[in-house]
Amino acid sequence: KPISIIGMPLDLGQGRRGVDMGPSAIRYALAQQMLIDLGYEVEDLGDLHVPSPESIKIGDPHLKYLDAIRHVNEELANTVSEVVTKGRFPLVFGGDHSMAIGTVAGVAKHYRRLGLIWFDAHGDLNTGETSPSGNIHGMSLAISLGLGHSDLVQIGGFAPKVLPEHTVIIGARELDLGERQLIRELGIKVFTMHEIDRIGMAKVMEEAITIASNGTDGVHLSLDLDGLDPNDCPGVGTPVPGGMTYRESHLAMEMLAESKILTSAEFVEVNPILDRENHTAQVAVALMGSVFGKKVL
Ligand code: ARG
Ligand code: MN
Ligand code: MN
Ligand code: MN
Repeated sequence: KPISIIGMPLDLGQGRRGVDMGPSAIRYALAQQMLIDLGYEVEDLGDLHVPSPESIKIGDPHLKYLDAIRHVNEELANTVSEVVTKGRFPLVFGGDHSMAIGTVAGVAKHYRRLGLIWFDAHGDLNTGETSPSGNIHGMSLAISLGLGHSDLVQIGGFAPKVLPEHTVIIGARELDLGERQLIRELGIKVFTMHEIDRIGMAKVMEEAITIASNGTDGVHLSLDLDGLDPNDCPGVGTPVPGGMTYRESHLAMEMLAESKILTSAEFVEVNPILDRENHTAQVAVALMGSVFGKKVL
């Protein structure tokens, strides 16, 4: 399938400056050329417009920048949806993880039984009530499951976008109290670092691919670079030690490529200000290569 790149320079969903430059950093690491070298037809639709935090009000401290985040995610959802309508694969560069609200809304309009693979150190399963920070990037998976502020849940005009039984989290190692409760209530499958250590990434991915593809008509990959160990990906705003290694992450992407189940993907939370010589964006592009079928031999 031909690929359409969309840049989402969003930083309103979290508290640190620089993640709005993530899409530029990923382009600087030659994402488009890498995909062309793999034989894909690739267009870059450029960046969506996101207001700077200085130009708007923070609003409710439990849901910081709610209005602006709703607005830009509605635009992202429309852009992603148009890409799918054209028969192309949406590939979104971020930007903080609150952008998943828009990406998932855009694809779920077409894939009404969407599978979702959430690669992350975190659960992003907070609501305004449970969030310790009020940062919406820690709420985007809950929103996609239909839980949270209705302005965000209702983006695209329908909810939920995805069901718990079609959702799988990989790499979790820092979950807030409300998130742990929600995971038990909804029965979401979570492969924490413990399971990855214990049974290995190959087995984890076999099970994850089954969960995301069983009874679904499309699968979205939402990859937060903080899922990897901060030694490999220092350029993220909320690093957590003890993450997935470079090779474990590649194996996960390679197995996704082999499974041929993905219908959209996003690479988020790249913050070049906190990075070392653009390493994190380079890792993002390398992982993208594996997702799109790059092999050694
Ligand atoms: N759980 C914390 C919070 O709700 C951190 C979330 C980090 N999320 C992310 N997409 N990096 O604030
Ligand atoms: Mn309060
Ligand atoms: Mn995270
Ligand atoms: Mn995240």
